[in-house]
Amino acid sequence: MQNELYMENKNIKYYLLTGGAGFIGANFVKHMLKAHSDIKIIVLDALTYAGNLGTLKEDLKNDSLIFVKGDICDSKVTNKIFEDYNIDYLVNFAAESHVDRSIENPQIFLQTNILGTQNLLDTAKKFWTVGKDENGYPIYRDGVKYLQVSTDEVYGSLGDTGYFLETTPLDPNSPYSASKTGADLIVKAYAETFKMPVNTTRCSNNYGPYHFPEKLIPLIIKNILEGKKLPVYGDGSNVRDWLYVEDHCKAIDLVLHKGRIGEIYNVGGHNEKQNIEIVKLTIATIRRLMEQNHSYQQVLKPGHPGIGFINDDMITFVKDRLGHDQRYAIDPQKISKELGWLPETKFEDGIVKTITWYLENQGWVEEVTSGDYQNYYKQMYENR
Ligand code: NAD
Ligand code: DAU
Repeated sequence: MQNELYMENKNIKYYLLTGGAGFIGANFVKHMLKAHSDIKIIVLDALTYAGNLGTLKEDLKNDSLIFVKGDICDSKVTNKIFEDYNIDYLVNFAAESHVDRSIENPQIFLQTNILGTQNLLDTAKKFWTVGKDENGYPIYRDGVKYLQVSTDEVYGSLGDTGYFLETTPLDPNSPYSASKTGADLIVKAYAETFKMPVNTTRCSNNYGPYHFPEKLIPLIIKNILEGKKLPVYGDGSNVRDWLYVEDHCKAIDLVLHKGRIGEIYNVGGHNEKQNIEIVKLTIATIRRLMEQNHSYQQVLKPGHPGIGFINDDMITFVKDRLGHDQRYAIDPQKISKELGWLPETKFEDGIVKTITWYLENQGWVEEVTSGDYQNYYKQMYENR
């Protein structure tokens, strides 16, 4: 069927987006469907606790989007997708992505993040190879590309000053970031050894709609609405460099289509904030939005003592994360100069958009936290 479609319109480009039912992947699907015509997107996602098909419910009404449930480590599944569709681009979002979970159970991080990446590279290499050059290097079909979605965490932790550049030595500290570094290196190895057309992007912390509430901002929003304490690790002085997810999606789109083959691009918006600032800003913003629009107060969960209770007294400082990186900060000058990318959403606007989205989409939060979330929360926070 897809081959017929491809014959009908040779301009159609086929995108395999792994992890497309997660936070950034799903935002990227929505971005691509809006920004491009003549595309066909195949989402491959294992639907772990972090993936939710409900996020793509509306998008799946569009014929341009196809969903396949499966594991990126499973070569049968990945081969079948390449057999069925003439994939032009593969963007790998799929990962175990939560640092705290990687401290509890590192193995699945190595499995998915490293071996999964290697399987995707192998599959793409097999189907994209059209011949060999005189030195034995594969020659690939014109225009194909693999993009690895990586993270600033591969660079480790910064002191009070300085920024991560693409040339900063890799120095990961958590099982999560070590596994993402392993993946980056296997991508580099395929680029060097097999001359595969690849790019890697390394982005700072994202925030925005559809963020699973085990990460800082959505967890704080959820707890505020439930009248629960707001757990801040250590003294709250750790710094993260926050970027609105849509800006990250636009950066990936640009690198995929315009990035120089083999290059790594850092993505970040010079928006450093201490965790404690983020938490206080979230408290103040929710309270202000509820004062301005009283209907939002209906979102407070049964038994909540009311908006008078939404203040900094909700904050509780809890035992620090093991090996907690102190500061991340990206220098995005390469992607800005080469590809003209700049973040478009100011943090003050992005955080209001994000919180408003959560106030208006509690159904989504309930859906994604209806499974094992309560057990996870108990295990992580009860005796902290
Ligand atoms: P997420 O945890 O929200 O989503 C990950 C998705 O991958 C989920 O849909 C999950 O079901 C799927 N998945 C997990 N294991 C899989 C497997 N074995 N096979 C197929 N699918 C699988 O993560 P996210 O925050 O959207 O992050 C996406 C990517 O971006 C990750 O690679 C992450 O390392 C990277 N990243 C994230 C951030 C951030 O702030 N969230 C910043 C920079 C880079
Ligand atoms: O920097 C990019 C990375 O950002 C991505 O590669 C990861 O996939 C993504 O999860 C994110 O990692 P962090 O560990 O920075 O995100 P998290 O939201 O878990 O934590 C942000 C900061 O907030 C961190 O310093 C830990 C702190 N924190 C987190 C939670 C969940 C708290 O103080 N309390 C909490 O309850």
